[in-house]
Amino acid sequence: MPARDLHIKPFDEGTKTKLEIYRSYVRAWLQVFLHAEAFRGKPFQFFDFFSGPGEDSTGEPGSPLILLSELLAVRTEIEQHRHDIRIFFNDQDAGKIDNLQQLCSKKSLPWQPRFESLDFADAFKKVQKEIGLSPSLVFIDQSGVKQITRNVFNALTQAGTTDFLFFTASSAKWRLVNCSRRKSTFPKIFHTQTSIVSSRTNIENGHPRECSLVISRSKRNRISMV
Ligand SMILES: C[S@@+](CC[C@H](N)C(=O)[O-])C[C@H]1O[C@@H](n2cnc3c(N)ncnc32)[C@H](O)[C@@H]1O
Repeated sequence: MPARDLHIKPFDEGTKTKLEIYRSYVRAWLQVFLHAEAFRGKPFQFFDFFSGPGEDSTGEPGSPLILLSELLAVRTEIEQHRHDIRIFFNDQDAGKIDNLQQLCSKKSLPWQPRFESLDFADAFKKVQKEIGLSPSLVFIDQSGVKQITRNVFNALTQAGTTDFLFFTASSAKWRLVNCSRRKSTFPKIFHTQTSIVSSRTNIENGHPRECSLVISRSKRNRISMV
């Protein structure tokens, strides 16, 4: 079944919650690295591998514009501490990347993002060596679950000074909760933490935000899932 396109209509509650979590994460990440003496003057790197076009059908900002607004909010500190900002936006849909490029150019940004329109695996290969060369924040907002292979997961956990945040489709976890034998489509790395936290009761009783937080607690060191 093709993934539904969430950009052709207004973002739903779940997507808004996800983006709120992303915004909080970016904001907190920036505060940590802006105040860490050890990284003074080092470039900050941001990789959004499933960036989308920048906004939903009503102009509500998606992850790339959220990142940019958080960066602009601390622009003075970034400049005072002499951090170069490197931004990588990718989406395999060339039309979405075109749209994002146009939105960015209207903003006259002080930093020039890089744009690619590649399948995730190719985009990841292209920039993998750069991740972690200086403080890096990687955002992987895939539509399904299959892009985080063991190799990708290992590369991210082994990269220096790299935090990553990824989301997976909650429908995949539903399938896992419903039928633990059907593990084949769900990457093995998720099995343990998912089965601990994603009990049907937790999900059914929770507001979308609570569900997200319950799941993000599953592995505090670097992994968050919605
Ligand atoms: C869940 S949406 C991301 C939304 C985005 N973070 C935002 O806030 O608007 C997933 C995006 O991934 C793109 N996509 C789907 N499969 C992909 C793949 N294999 N490689 C790269 N991008 C892909 C889709 O075009 C879609 O824009």
